[in-house]
Amino acid sequence: MFHAPIVPRARKRLRPAECSVPRHDEVKFEDVRVYLVERKMGRSRRSFLTQLARSKGFVVEDILSDEVTHVVSEDSHASSLWKWLKECAPKNLPDVNVLDISWFTDSMREGRPAAVETRHLIQDTLPTEGSPPTPVATVSPPTPVATVSQYACQRRTTLENHNKIFTEAFEVLAESYEFNMNEGQCLAFRRAASVLKSLPWAVLSLGATQDLPCLGQHTKKVMEEVLYYGRSFEVDNILSDERFQTLKLFTSVFGVGPKTAEKWYCRGLRSFSDILADRSIHLNRMQQSGFLHYGDISRAVSKAEALSLRNIIDGAVHAITPAAAVALTGGFRRGKEFGHDVDFIVTTPELGKEDRLLLNIIDGLKRQGLLLYCDYQASTFDMAKLPNHRFKAMDNFSKCFLILRLESSQVEGGLHSVEGDSRGWRAVRVDLVSPPLDRYAFALMGWTGSRQFQRDLRRFARAERRMLLDNHALYDKNKKEFLAASTEKDIFAHLGLEYIEPWQRNA
Ligand code: CTP
Ligand code: MN
Ligand code: MN
Repeated sequence: MFHAPIVPRARKRLRPAECSVPRHDEVKFEDVRVYLVERKMGRSRRSFLTQLARSKGFVVEDILSDEVTHVVSEDSHASSLWKWLKECAPKNLPDVNVLDISWFTDSMREGRPAAVETRHLIQDTLPTEGSPPTPVATVSPPTPVATVSQYACQRRTTLENHNKIFTEAFEVLAESYEFNMNEGQCLAFRRAASVLKSLPWAVLSLGATQDLPCLGQHTKKVMEEVLYYGRSFEVDNILSDERFQTLKLFTSVFGVGPKTAEKWYCRGLRSFSDILADRSIHLNRMQQSGFLHYGDISRAVSKAEALSLRNIIDGAVHAITPAAAVALTGGFRRGKEFGHDVDFIVTTPELGKEDRLLLNIIDGLKRQGLLLYCDYQASTFDMAKLPNHRFKAMDNFSKCFLILRLESSQVEGGLHSVEGDSRGWRAVRVDLVSPPLDRYAFALMGWTGSRQFQRDLRRFARAERRMLLDNHALYDKNKKEFLAASTEKDIFAHLGLEYIEPWQRNA
């Protein structure tokens, strides 16, 4: 491959007046003089960024002169950048800020020169004479990216997201594709978001994404916009689109999926009052409860509320079946502070009594006056019908989807409700599932989520191990047999995967 030699620029002293600042752009920040290094950035991007900065009132110098205060580079190889700078640099180099592109994007986002922070600096790592070479400090990413797996089940994803600016944009796009029934694109953006969520560092330049899996052209274009402007115009357009806003509003109602929302939208309905006023619309029981308790169940459930519900369910279980167990699952098991509902897995050591257990709990809740809505689904689980070759969204275990009344007095620190709400209670969505004891590990794994983590576990099992995994079982197609598991660790071990803790499954 041909490498252009590093040619030091001719040094030429320029007075500020001679520096090329287009007349139409008003200079707002006299004291900051930016120089963009063309190496790695490329000529066209450099001229684009120059225009962008000038339009925001920045002075961008074409030539690296003594006037320059901020040198910005996209070259993550600190040593070669500094070598080049020293060769062609002005005398005041030690006083110049040599910065990563992140300082520039921060400045564009803020609309003024960002305060220089350590994370922006490209440190001089050239060895001083006589001393051994020090390792090159890369600006980003600090860890080798080649190790990022395409499968979420081979990544550790905590709740600490360093790339929210991108993942939030991706989630809007994914949702928009979901509304347009474009599953492929929807999944592509969900996967991309999941990869970025797993990174222990923030992506500061497109270069840093080079070796990351699941990032296609479209995702990179969005990231580029976010890096340049602090926002994606495509996402802005979606967010201000009437159809998107309406579908988002309608699907926020319990029991309303994208298909129903679309149907209502096509009928010209745009608000809840439009729907409730339309006499030709028949709401099912779930949707009626969804509207009735909308204010409460559209508000997040706190961990304190989830824990208090565990006590309530625990009480209802143990009053009848002392040997039964109740465990928190879903997002709260992954360490989330808030959730859209509370998920519990309950089980009894007596095989075949799972349905009875759930019905007893429901009965207990009803007698206490806590049951506001109940959709109970008896078990259709049949080991003889396994393995499932096609994954179904719902498992066959005994389960129920509930809306419960939670009293403020039961919650440590009180309810998570709006200020001025003096009712002293709120409605909360609760899911309960009751698998047979020998299926417990598979059910717990599936219900712990996240959705993306479970999706990739199944994809990994199928593609890499010729195994079929779902909430019921793990089937080995090579050996033509089911693999038993009494804990989640057993399942990871069967799949030849390192164990990932629940709080690391926030993919
Ligand atoms: N799940 C499932 N079968 C169902 C319902 C849910 O396997 N019939 C799984 C989902 O795939 C998810 C987990 O149970 O992984 C929890 O679902 P949900 O409550 O929707 O999501 P959470 O991750 O708990 O998020 P949130 O905190 O918003 O509730
Ligand atoms: Mn949940
Ligand atoms: Mn749930």
